[in-house]
Order: sequence, then C-alpha cells, then structure tokens
Amino acid sequence: MISELQKLEKDALAELSAAEAEDQFLNIRTKYLGRKGLLTGLLRNIAQVSDNEKPLFGKLCNELKNSLNSKIDAALLEQANRNKENILLKEKIDVTLPGNAVKYGHIHPVVQIRREICSVFASFGFSIVEGPEIELDYYNFEALNMPKDHPARDMQDTFYIEDNIVLRTHTSPVQVRIMEKVRPPLRILSPGKVYRRDSDVSHTPMFHQIEGLLVDKGVNFGDLKGILSAFLKKIFGSATTLRFRPSFFPFTEPSAEVDIRCVMCGGKGCRVCGQSGWLEILGSGMVDPAVFQNVNYDPEEYSGFAFGLGLERIAMLKYGISDIRLFFENDIRFLKQF
Ligand code: DAH
Repeated sequence: MISELQKLEKDALAELSAAEAEDQFLNIRTKYLGRKGLLTGLLRNIAQVSDNEKPLFGKLCNELKNSLNSKIDAALLEQANRNKENILLKEKIDVTLPGNAVKYGHIHPVVQIRREICSVFASFGFSIVEGPEIELDYYNFEALNMPKDHPARDMQDTFYIEDNIVLRTHTSPVQVRIMEKVRPPLRILSPGKVYRRDSDVSHTPMFHQIEGLLVDKGVNFGDLKGILSAFLKKIFGSATTLRFRPSFFPFTEPSAEVDIRCVMCGGKGCRVCGQSGWLEILGSGMVDPAVFQNVNYDPEEYSGFAFGLGLERIAMLKYGISDIRLFFENDIRFLKQF
C-alpha cells in the first residue's frame, strides 16, 4: 500500500508539472483528492494495511493530501498572476503616443462660392435678400412673363406641390417679390436653393442659384456688361476673357448669356468646354417692360438689368469637378480638398 501511495504521489506531481491552465489544476485536485479521488480511495482501504503500518500510512496519506492541496493552490495562484500580467502587457497604453487628431469640418465649396460672389456684389452696393423655396406659380412664372401655356416653362422641369404652388425652379421670383415692396433705385442679390426634376452628372434635383437685379433711371446694356465683367474677373481672375452672346429669356429683352474663355484649356478646346473653348457662366438681360408692369414700375421711367447663375456650375468650373452629385454625397475625402 505504501508503494502504491508513493506511485500515486509521483503521478500526481508529474501531472501537476505538466498542467498549465486553471481547469487542468482543478481536474487534478478532483482526480486525486475529490470524494471519489484516487488518494481518497486509498485511505478508504486502510483496513487492508497491517496494524503496525497503519499509523505511518495514515500520516503519509495526510501529508500527501496537504502537500498536493498546497501545490495546487500555489499553481492556481501563479496561473492567476500570469493571466493578470498577460492582460496588462496586452492592454498596455502608451501615454506618450500622440492622441487621435480631432477632424474639423469646414465650409462647403458651394457655400464658399456663394460667400465669395455675395461679397463681390456687396462691394458693388448690392443688398443680399432671400425668398421662399416653396413658391406661387405667379412669382415663379406668370409675373416673369411666362403665362401658363408659355413654351419656356418646358425648359424648367417643375416640381408641383399643388396646381398653383411649386418648388421654385430658379431664384428669379425674388426679383418680383422685392420690386413689389421696394421702389427703385435698387440693387439686390438673392442666393438660394432651387429645384428641378432632373438628375445626371450635371444636374441634381436641388441646386443653388444666385439672382441679381439692378433698377434705376437710365440703366443700359453697358451697365450690365460693366458690372458682370468686373464680377467675373474678380471670381475667375483679371485676365479672364468674356463673351456676351445673344439669347432669350421671357423676363429680359434683350437677353444675353455670358461665357468665359475655358479655364481648363485656355480656349484650345477640351472635354470641359465641349471643344468650344468657351464656358457658359450666366444668363442675363435688360428687365422686360412686361415684368416692370407686373410690379407697377413705369418702364418709361425706369430700366434695369438682371442675371442668374448656378453656384454648383461655377464651383465645378473653378475647381475642375466633373460630377455635380459629388457636392451632395458629403464624402469627407471630396469635401476636404476645397
Ligand atoms: N432664371 C434663369 C434660369 O434659371 C437665369 C436667368 C437668366 C436669370 C436671365 C435672370 C436673367 O435674371 O436675366 O435659367
């Protein structure tokens, strides 16, 4: 029996030194010291031990039990400490590393262009005014000399809210709203959102326009050319070449579109200008007498000019952006370039 006890001790120690994980140590404890454990079993058979060996056998059993228990406890403790150390090593924080930089937003390119244009016209004495985006048919069309059956309405794919209420298709209605309230002379600039049923690389259902209007006694086409030339040279550079091209708008007569020499190719012809060497920048013209009559201005006494332009288009040309939809995807990688 004593030799069995010695063999059992040797086995238990060998198993202990091979074990690594907590559950292995606990299993060894159960295997040898548990209620049905091997050492417990040996003790139970003490009756088979000769009487003179019994005290010694009992003593050795107890010693082995105690020493195994304390070895297992020590191993468990050591294992727990090792775990803690591992966790500390793994989760170590290097407080000397630089922190994550906070990402700052900045002004959207369309807003930058809007502010730039507004400040140029403010320096020409224009006031900045705004009008509603949900607009009456009357202001968006009728008062601007586009009656219900006018073909020019087809150029503007309109979102209708009700029969007589639309999402404004341009910022021109603000002209009429202001003239109804204010007597000349006046110089106003009106930036804002406009809406058209259209979507592709150069159209989005919502985009931004700026409308300008100047009315006074004796205003002529030379004034229009002078102000618009000065404006475009401020935005695109003093060397910019301009072209005033005859056009048609129901609310101006005569009307002109203003082009600049292509900023990409300098006029040689490229993809951006469609090989023409010119970029269309804005629509303009002398306010049609019919519009003045709608707001009770006397066309014999007053004259004026108006113009309108798309902000995204200007930003696209200025920054060489080929897809208008990029402005509204809010991809930081795109926006942070401006
Ligand atoms: N409202 C026009 C458009 O959206 C732009 C425009 C052209 C405005 C000529 C004007 C103008 O005031 O005189 O296409």
